[in-house]
Amino acid sequence: MYSGQSIAITGAGGGIGRAMAEKFIAEGAKVAISDINQELVEKTAAEIGASAFVCDVAREEDIAAFIKAAEAANGPIDVFVSNAGVGFPDEPGGHAAGGSNESWELSWQINVMSSVYAGRSLIPGWKKRGQEGVKGRFVVVASAAGLLAQVYSGSYTTTKHAAVGFAEYMAIMHKNDGIKVHCICPQYVKTNMTKGMAEIKEGPDKHLEPSDVADSLFAAMAKDEFLVLPHPVIKDYFQAKAADHDQYIGGMAYRAKSMDKGHIPNL
Ligand SMILES: NC(=O)c1ccc[n+]([C@@H]2O[C@H](COP(=O)([O-])OP(=O)(O)OC[C@H]3O[C@@H](n4cnc5c(N)ncnc54)[C@H](O)[C@@H]3O)[C@@H](O)[C@H]2O)c1
Repeated sequence: MYSGQSIAITGAGGGIGRAMAEKFIAEGAKVAISDINQELVEKTAAEIGASAFVCDVAREEDIAAFIKAAEAANGPIDVFVSNAGVGFPDEPGGHAAGGSNESWELSWQINVMSSVYAGRSLIPGWKKRGQEGVKGRFVVVASAAGLLAQVYSGSYTTTKHAAVGFAEYMAIMHKNDGIKVHCICPQYVKTNMTKGMAEIKEGPDKHLEPSDVADSLFAAMAKDEFLVLPHPVIKDYFQAKAADHDQYIGGMAYRAKSMDKGHIPNL
């Protein structure tokens, strides 16, 4: 289905972005990957057969240049994956508003504005595309923390909620233009981001492999589904939250109390 298509993925030096790139390549797609870490992205690209670009997604000019270079290499982009993300703990204050302004600003730029910048570069061209059917797919790698909360990280929780909000808005505003938007909301995945965290090995909340997230995306794209839940149980938690907000806050507060801060991911 994706054979010959042009794919661009940010933050794909490793982890979830790399796994997605590998899956697209296995399907015969032409894949451009980017990352802020030059050494990592060049090594990964050489290993998997992608083209490598350096791009800091917090900089609009970098995103525009990445999209231009990816299109020069592989043709007009069919699927763009806004994957790069960062997280920071509530330090130095150690309370809900305790993160530094720098960590909040970086989270806002990298977790939210990167998708706005990419959309700004891609949407006008996609709207003008003459082809029948899907004009382009925009994938936002948000998080379960965009639907629920990531205890001990106010900046991650808040900006991932905003990432989900922007993905929904794009899906609504461009459904009639033939642009498909997919928003991925996993719980823990075994990547650098969760290194050092105690692994949940069993049950519906267990840590997944990055390739599981890539598989979930492909299943959702085949059905044109917006919300991608690699941990299906998130749908139950989200419905329970909508049904009773106070019970949700009570449950999350209990989780925060019972959870050692040392067990939170390597945010
Ligand atoms: N690992 C998890 O448990 C988990 C769960 C839910 C959502 N996510 C999200 O998945 C996405 C991918 O994360 P991952 O788990 O693969 O972690 P990862 O750390 O392996 O990958 C993130 C990549 O983003 C790159 N990056 C950081 N800042 C950047 C910037 N300014 N510009 C460009 N690239 C930058 C890093 O160099 C890194 O290669 C993130 O958006 C993350 O929030 C991860």
